[in-house]
Amino acid sequence: MENEVLKAIKNRRSTRKYKEKQISEEELQALLDAGIQAPSANNSQSWHFTVIQNRDMINFISDKSKEVMRESDNKSIVNVGKSAGNIFYNAPTLIILSGKKEVQSSLVDCSAAIENMLIAGESIGLGTVWVGFVRSFFTLTEEVKKLKLPDGYEPFYAVSVGYKEDDGVFGPSKRNREVINYIR
Ligand SMILES: Cc1cc2nc3c(=O)[nH]c(=O)nc-3n(C[C@H](O)[C@H](O)[C@H](O)COP(=O)(O)O)c2cc1C
Repeated sequence: MENEVLKAIKNRRSTRKYKEKQISEEELQALLDAGIQAPSANNSQSWHFTVIQNRDMINFISDKSKEVMRESDNKSIVNVGKSAGNIFYNAPTLIILSGKKEVQSSLVDCSAAIENMLIAGESIGLGTVWVGFVRSFFTLTEEVKKLKLPDGYEPFYAVSVGYKEDDGVFGPSKRNREVINYIR
């Protein structure tokens, strides 16, 4: 079967090279709305979205994340920390997803919102990548205050957003089909 939604799901790949040009406000709002439309346990809608479109702030978060990564016990994380690149791949927009601490399912709710945004992004021609490396930054309690989160929320992940310069530099991502069993 094929339709527009299935096409967007199949064609979406992580984008790791972006054009400098900022996305339009209409595109940004479409992404945020797609996130907000995600399912959540008990309809708790336990997410909060922080939109950062300030180059200095995006670079600051990347630099601080890498500083923390360089202290890791894991060699591959240390290597990312030492690399020259920006962990958000210089995307012009960053959306940080934070969850309500008192809601047990908030990480899952936020993940559903993120996936909606990634698929919506593909459907309107935007590149996105889900960024977990930013979790290093979130360990820096004092620095996290700069995100101006509402009280009672904790940051989980970031999504880089922009126009695609190139698809994932990691190359096309093969899918393992041997992950299904049927009882019928
Ligand atoms: C929880 C999570 C964290 C991720 N963190 C990063 C990250 O920090 N940097 C990155 O380049 N990609 C990150 N990714 C993207 C994955 O590497 C990517 O989705 C995977 O390799 C499959 O490729 P595709 O998205 O192109 O299909 C993350 C994905 C998930 C779900």
